[in-house]
Amino acid sequence: MTDAELLRYITTCDPDEAEALFAEARKVRARYYGNAVYFRGLIEFTNYCKNDCFYCGIRASNKHVERYRLSVEQILQCCTVGNMLGYKTFVLQGGEDPFFTDERIVEIVTAVRRNYPNHAITLSIGEKEWSSYELFFEAGANRYLLRHETADEAHYAALHPASMSLTHRKQCLFTLKEIGYQVGAGFMVGTPFQTPETLLEDLRFLEELKPAMVGIGPFIPAAGTPFSKEARGSLEQTLRMIALSRILLPKALIPATTALGTISSHGRERGLMAGANVVMPNLSPKTVRKLYSLYDNKICTGDEAAECRLCMEGRIRTFGFVPDMRRGDAAV
Ligand code: SAM
Ligand code: FES
Repeated sequence: MTDAELLRYITTCDPDEAEALFAEARKVRARYYGNAVYFRGLIEFTNYCKNDCFYCGIRASNKHVERYRLSVEQILQCCTVGNMLGYKTFVLQGGEDPFFTDERIVEIVTAVRRNYPNHAITLSIGEKEWSSYELFFEAGANRYLLRHETADEAHYAALHPASMSLTHRKQCLFTLKEIGYQVGAGFMVGTPFQTPETLLEDLRFLEELKPAMVGIGPFIPAAGTPFSKEARGSLEQTLRMIALSRILLPKALIPATTALGTISSHGRERGLMAGANVVMPNLSPKTVRKLYSLYDNKICTGDEAAECRLCMEGRIRTFGFVPDMRRGDAAV
């Protein structure tokens, strides 16, 4: 698609035009994945973070956050529950927590890998050095989620403190790919200072990187952050960005995110109808879920892992999709 065509879909307010886009995205998705929706078990193992991203509820200077870390035993307990519920992918996500040194991450990945030799292990723990990513990979991690957040330099600088750089984040993504990870990039829709042009840059960056996974969700304001009073991202525009990503990267694994479910009661289902093919129900212990508050009013924080698993299955089937508990690597 040309820039002009993409910009039209990024900005359109015409429901028929949007629906045609979603229909095309569904067609492309069905070509590689049919009606299957892959399940990933998400374990949010620390809400400590040394970074201070302006949008993020668990940023270092948000003093209102009660901080927690899961022990290796607790993480393994989440995996035990997840495995019993049929999950074949564990996603270990957290803030950039200095307590979790390379040695500790390697210890965790090694333990999970020992217990589950055939599961996929996904890490989402931010920007690291090449050598660290390599150690985690050798210990058994297969996938890595690191949203680029925005592919525009000036926009990146408006969302992050000067200590963080888009160049380094992009470099991390290319490094991860080179090491052999299945890599996930992505961005929020509706962050302050975002424009149709920066969203276009996001799509062009995805085309360049060709990630196996693309995470897109609406920006939702979080209490205790500089953006707490900003408007949230729009459901419709987020759906259109999912659909465009599906069309540009037909084989990508694209989650219908919790943030999408937070801004609309059927947001995740609509994400699937716009071309997404993954859901990531929570496996974190119920006691800590509310504390991993990246944004306000996050859903599913009061549920047990088994409830989330069943709830998502029901929701998916209602919309004609089929839950798929296999490991679900990207189509080749
Ligand atoms: N520390 C890791 C990293 O930086 O990639 C993983 C954790 S980070 C909290 C996961 C993602 O949450 C970010 O990539 C960002 O896109 C999303 N996020 C953070 N704050 C958000 C907000 N206010 N609304 C929606 N998504 C948000
Ligand atoms: Fe958690 Fe619905 S996905 S309760």
